[in-house]
Amino acid sequence: MIPEHIIWTGDFLRLLDQTRLPEEIAYLDCKTPHDVAAAIKRLSVRGAPAIGVAAAYGVILGMDNLNETIKLLASTRPTAVNLFWALERMKECINQHQGMNIDQLRQILIKEACLIHEDDKEKCKRIGAFGASLINDGDGILTHCNAGALATGGIGTALGVIYTAIEQGKKIRVYADETRPLLQGSRLTAWELKAAGVDVTLICDNMAGVVMREGRINLVVVGADRITSNGDVANKIGTYSVAVLAEKHNIPFFVAAPTSTIDMSLSDGSMIPIEQRAEEEITCGFGRQTAPDNIKVYNPAFDVTPHELIKGIITETGIAEAPYEKSIEVMMHLHRS
Ligand code: MRU
Repeated sequence: MIPEHIIWTGDFLRLLDQTRLPEEIAYLDCKTPHDVAAAIKRLSVRGAPAIGVAAAYGVILGMDNLNETIKLLASTRPTAVNLFWALERMKECINQHQGMNIDQLRQILIKEACLIHEDDKEKCKRIGAFGASLINDGDGILTHCNAGALATGGIGTALGVIYTAIEQGKKIRVYADETRPLLQGSRLTAWELKAAGVDVTLICDNMAGVVMREGRINLVVVGADRITSNGDVANKIGTYSVAVLAEKHNIPFFVAAPTSTIDMSLSDGSMIPIEQRAEEEITCGFGRQTAPDNIKVYNPAFDVTPHELIKGIITETGIAEAPYEKSIEVMMHLHRS
């Protein structure tokens, strides 16, 4: 298994710097909310649930001006709703303990951030258990980006499903899309699965169609950054293309995510803010120029997969299926009760 990647030391936040993987295991010590914000922006910590957990710890580092700290952390990445969900929980906790002295409040906020972290671990386990029931012995599974331990506080969401199925004794072959432009599939998913001893094969994103056509894939499972109340799903750029390919080849396409990724305030995917990232990620990825000077670039970090293409959304409270308005409401209700 991978080393701990989000560590609250008691004084500051230590993060495994995911930008250095797989070459190097290096840690980043975040001692101010600015350090945490910078780490989230540059993807040293990434993946929707992990961003939320890191931001919750980040709040504790900026207690001299909590409003400013929360604003700063909220300004880092716009798409993954877990960030705003975790900050909202920290804000509520602050509001509930107004009038307390700063040391007492600090202890309470540490407890809350640890709880968010622990809860995510538990949610991953439950997602894994629900999702594993969909997987048969001998299946080939395709995944996109990294929705594994590195992206969460636990075993992962999409990869949590895979780890759990393997634990149940099922033999599984995983195909990992490399995930252009930042290669989370190659640098992180392939690394993490290999470290766990999983049978993983790395493919370029543009090979997904052919591996499906060759009959190597029985099921697709990916994570999510934000799910709207009608079941539309924002996830790493390229997810939509995979879903279209899966539909064409009659392969069930599943999303695995905790209920903290569901944004009930948005009725459909067109309302999800999509992060646009630097041109250099495409023109000069990993330090080598790969495009002509001054070329126009479009670099959205996420896309939206419409709910019609999704067979089921695996949450910690169960598996939502069409009609999603109803089933997502049930999942949210189970989560609150
Ligand atoms: O830009 P990233 O690496 O933060 O994008 C991550 C993803 O798109 C993941 O699939 C998603 O956050 C789910 S993580 C359990």
